[in-house]
Amino acid sequence: MAGTDWQGDLLRQLRGGDGEPAPEPVVPSSVSAGQPAAAPSEPADRANSAATPSESAAPAKPAAPAAEPIPAPAPTLPAPSPIPVPPVDPHLLPAHRRSRPGDSVLRRTRRSLRQLLLSSASRDVAEATRIAQALQQPVTTGRQIAVTSIRGGAGKTTVAALLNLTYAHYRQDPVLVLEADPALGTLPIRLAAPAVRWTCSDLAQVINPSMQFAEVTGYLVQVAEGGWLLPGSQGRVGTRLELPSYRAVMMALRRYFGITVVDCETLPNPLARTALAASHARVLVAPATMEGVASTRAVLEWMADVPRPRLLPGTVVALTMSSPDMTLDTGAASAYLGQAGIRVVTIPYDRHLAAGGPIRTAALGHETRMAAGHLGAELLNLALGKPR
Ligand SMILES: Nc1ncnc2c1ncn2[C@@H]1O[C@H](COP(=O)(O)OP(=O)(O)O)[C@@H](O)[C@H]1O
Ligand SMILES: [Mg+2]
Repeated sequence: MAGTDWQGDLLRQLRGGDGEPAPEPVVPSSVSAGQPAAAPSEPADRANSAATPSESAAPAKPAAPAAEPIPAPAPTLPAPSPIPVPPVDPHLLPAHRRSRPGDSVLRRTRRSLRQLLLSSASRDVAEATRIAQALQQPVTTGRQIAVTSIRGGAGKTTVAALLNLTYAHYRQDPVLVLEADPALGTLPIRLAAPAVRWTCSDLAQVINPSMQFAEVTGYLVQVAEGGWLLPGSQGRVGTRLELPSYRAVMMALRRYFGITVVDCETLPNPLARTALAASHARVLVAPATMEGVASTRAVLEWMADVPRPRLLPGTVVALTMSSPDMTLDTGAASAYLGQAGIRVVTIPYDRHLAAGGPIRTAALGHETRMAAGHLGAELLNLALGKPR
């Protein structure tokens, strides 16, 4: 049963005696999966607009006495429609100062000077063109990319958000980022979600294969810079995402989205392991520290021993510099991690990312944008089974 249907049915049942017409379910437009240009914004607005509790509490409105004394059959109530909540407590918002651009003035000046050297500039253009072409490759069936790590705070959510922004920027088909880390995940904040309403667990209860693209997006958050977000929680401690719910949602959504990026929990969490196994390509995020690299290497060795599905071939390591004080030799670390043929992409330290809050592509440093593009291109190649 479609989510809009049961909501409509419920309202109809509860308003049965007062003669008020029940709201029609939103008629999905002719949009089919893979045609984002016509994606309507109305359902998203409906799902994500800050509906007042009184709207969502419509069922509490006492129905007018029925004309006939026939007792209405007790309705089997589905889970109530969640009330949207802001991803950050509005009282905390004044504490967030506008962050500085990702690159310092010195770095930007050096870069402008380098641009004057023709060879360097043309190399940059050639590299950017290669990345853009790889990011725009067509996909026939939805590709899933899982982002995980062995340590918390490694930079998973940041990498997942960067990938979403990158794919959404370059691709014509719809892209989705799903938060499979419901324990106080930060993805809605990083992607500037105005409100969080439906979570992955909620969607698992209502999704069905007959839904149109426009209906499905009614349960998602439209990311201002592009793409769609399915949050893992409304920011409450103790929210869980069960494996069957995750599987049901991933299975159902893959036909609507060209690429789905999954922001997972840390390994060896069972949900993260399931996401790794089910994805077409994987990112292991490693902090650029001795400990981060050593433990990530141990995960790669574990992955190499998993017989089926083979995890290692579709894996890329994102070596993340989350502090300006990191002194690790990234070349040596990449060589160490890459011994099993794994490609390593370094995500440089970026002041805009370090400041927290919503990520704005325009504020990212040039190297960060290039690294995100490079990582996205590498992953898509792997997800499509393209040789390096
Ligand atoms: N490239 C980067 N430059 C600067 N700070 C970063 C970078 N990547 C991650 N961070 C910071 O590291 C912290 C942890 O990142 P996050 O993505 O939330 O990790 P995880 O999801 O693995 O817990 C955040 O404060 C984030 O801003
Ligand atoms: Mg996270």
